[in-house]
Amino acid sequence: MTDAQAPRVLIVGLGMIGGSLAAALKAGSFAGRVVACDRDPEEIARGLALGVIDAGGTEVADWVADSQLIVLAVPVLAMESVLARLAPLLDAQVITDVGSTKLAIRAAAERVFGSLPPRFIPGHPIAGSEKSGVAAANPDLYRHHKVILTPGLDSDPAALAQVRAMWQACGAEVVDMAIERHDQVLARTSHLPHLLAFSLVDTLARQDERLEIFRYAAGGFRDFTRIAGSDPVMWRDIFTANKDAMIAALDDFEAGVARLRRAIVTGDDDAMLATLDRASHARHYFDTLLNKTRYQAMEQRNIRYRVSPGGGVRGTIRVPGDKSISHRSIMLGALADGVTEVSGFLEGEDSLATLQAFREMGVAIEGPHQGRVTIHGVGLHGLKAPAGPLYVGNAGTAMRLFAGLLAGQAFDTELTGDESLTKRPMGRVADPLREMGAVIETAEGGRPPLTIRGGQRLKGIDYAMPMASAQVKSCLLLAGLYAEGTTRVREPAPARDHTERMLSGFGYPVHRDGDLAWLEGGGRLTAAPIDVPADISSAAFFLVAAAITPGADLTLEHVGINPTRIGVINILQAMGADIRLDNPHEVGGEPVADLRVRYTPLKGITIPEDQVPLAIDEFPALFIAAANAEGVTRLRGAAELRVKESDRLAAMADGLSVLGVENTLHEDGIDIVGHGSETPNYGGGRIDSLGDHRIAMAFAIAALRAREPIVIDDCKNVATSFPGFVDLARRVGLTLDEEAS
Ligand code: S3P
Repeated sequence: MTDAQAPRVLIVGLGMIGGSLAAALKAGSFAGRVVACDRDPEEIARGLALGVIDAGGTEVADWVADSQLIVLAVPVLAMESVLARLAPLLDAQVITDVGSTKLAIRAAAERVFGSLPPRFIPGHPIAGSEKSGVAAANPDLYRHHKVILTPGLDSDPAALAQVRAMWQACGAEVVDMAIERHDQVLARTSHLPHLLAFSLVDTLARQDERLEIFRYAAGGFRDFTRIAGSDPVMWRDIFTANKDAMIAALDDFEAGVARLRRAIVTGDDDAMLATLDRASHARHYFDTLLNKTRYQAMEQRNIRYRVSPGGGVRGTIRVPGDKSISHRSIMLGALADGVTEVSGFLEGEDSLATLQAFREMGVAIEGPHQGRVTIHGVGLHGLKAPAGPLYVGNAGTAMRLFAGLLAGQAFDTELTGDESLTKRPMGRVADPLREMGAVIETAEGGRPPLTIRGGQRLKGIDYAMPMASAQVKSCLLLAGLYAEGTTRVREPAPARDHTERMLSGFGYPVHRDGDLAWLEGGGRLTAAPIDVPADISSAAFFLVAAAITPGADLTLEHVGINPTRIGVINILQAMGADIRLDNPHEVGGEPVADLRVRYTPLKGITIPEDQVPLAIDEFPALFIAAANAEGVTRLRGAAELRVKESDRLAAMADGLSVLGVENTLHEDGIDIVGHGSETPNYGGGRIDSLGDHRIAMAFAIAALRAREPIVIDDCKNVATSFPGFVDLARRVGLTLDEEAS
């Protein structure tokens, strides 16, 4: 913002909140003049002395005419009288406020002006401190914090833009929200905790007049009650102003405490554990999975890989657990009768999101601790309505499988995900589910979020899938558990069959005949232990790394080699790779083996179309193998790659072109021209992974045979499927630096 464009800001009320805003504006990129009014001349003098304001006084009337943006930072219940004083003085000024409740402030504005003025944009910075006064002003108070704006239908877009720009200049992230929702959300996340802290300290203080017990109060008490030191008048005003939402939040809380009390009184250890475990994990994961703050924090501080050219590939490693099987272990474990013990669980963000979603539906889940998870199954009809939308992060698998199993529940649910997932097609599951009788709403074009109406009677259908999708097949089979009659799914080519195998392992009969899978609704699942094999999709990056690097000799232990997943092995072997399957055996219905790969030169091939569904997630890695093979590798019949976490055909073609690898993109495939791997045959450069974990990892291994470094942007989502990738890559011989950007 230039000096000429920057508005002159008047802050009414120079306390800690108003003072921090002034300090942030003065310290940041905001170029306008900042003045303040406060009833207390000493606060103004202090503000001037601290240099957080340019001028100020005690009378608003002296400052309004010369300002363009007025920020009301007075206590909530004082807003009305300030607005009444401002009303006759206003010209074209934009007004906003920082009050913690918004309906009461809108009502005050309506009493003063008749309706909410279009240039009054109510706002609320979600940041604070128990300190008060301008002396506590902190220029960083709003940095990386959310500011919620609650514009009305008639709000002036230019006014909204001006208020937004002011907060952004303080480093805040600005979001818009409906005013009613703001008050309900804040009642639960801020007002209720303050009330509890005040009440707990008061209750204890009354019981112990001399405050003796506080001497023995340690960290837990201090953490819980810090906010009881906040300004009493301000909080009285907030509780009064947000009375209805507050009382509703308090009622819910009292019911929760009563449940816990009952569990203690009756010695119901399971109920206690379920509550405490759910809370403990919700607390740990809420940053990432509920508020998405971790994603946002990481978006601001993104991860970039810088991979040096060359390096060897040697050793013995075990990659993390299979993502597909990890998702399913939680889902079926939760719906089973009895306790399911899982080992080898993938502690990646995708499968953790699934785990968290079931906790939110009332399932007690212990762990994960080093890949071990214990799921206290609630049976097919034991899930409870979650309190809010279920957030499944980056995971298409979770959203599609959830759609099936939630369609059969008695309650409504909403499924949301991250930005990448929001672009992915869900009509492929919503349409056949509707044929079964489900009621599902999607956003435009069949995209997420999905709203699933509970309480529907589902009936089995015969469905011929237009594409070979394990997610669609699994979704329908899961819905089929709740449907009347038989649900039959026909696949145009074999897609992974983990759902069928695991259902059988849980004692639920699933039938297969050729391209058809079917089951009858109305049965039950019985808990069974699950040992999750290492993920062949993660192993693929190292299979290719060893296959393209002269001198390589690498063993990957305990890799799942389900016949519906081994396209990557078949294709690499057809290209001439030396891959040996040692120690083959079966764990919990899934075949596994140790894979030993030794370097031999590769040649380009035409990839058989029947291998495409069997290697669907491994193509980014396989394209790097193709770039290092002698001759052309041709892929067709792979249009599905365009609707994965990114358009993987386009993303890989772009990246290969950056490196100087000749390629031709087709609607459903790609041709890649390789020149062998005896000498490095492509350069380096900067690659955009488009936030797709597999694109990021594919180009990381490409560096083994590059002449120059490869820098890959937007790598944070590697954590969705392959936590620890960087360490393992370094362990086998790559030189990979991780940078925050
Ligand atoms: C998966 C199925 C595949 C795959 C995805 C995991 C699964 O998707 O790409 O990573 O776990 O069922 P489609 O079913 O869309 O092919």
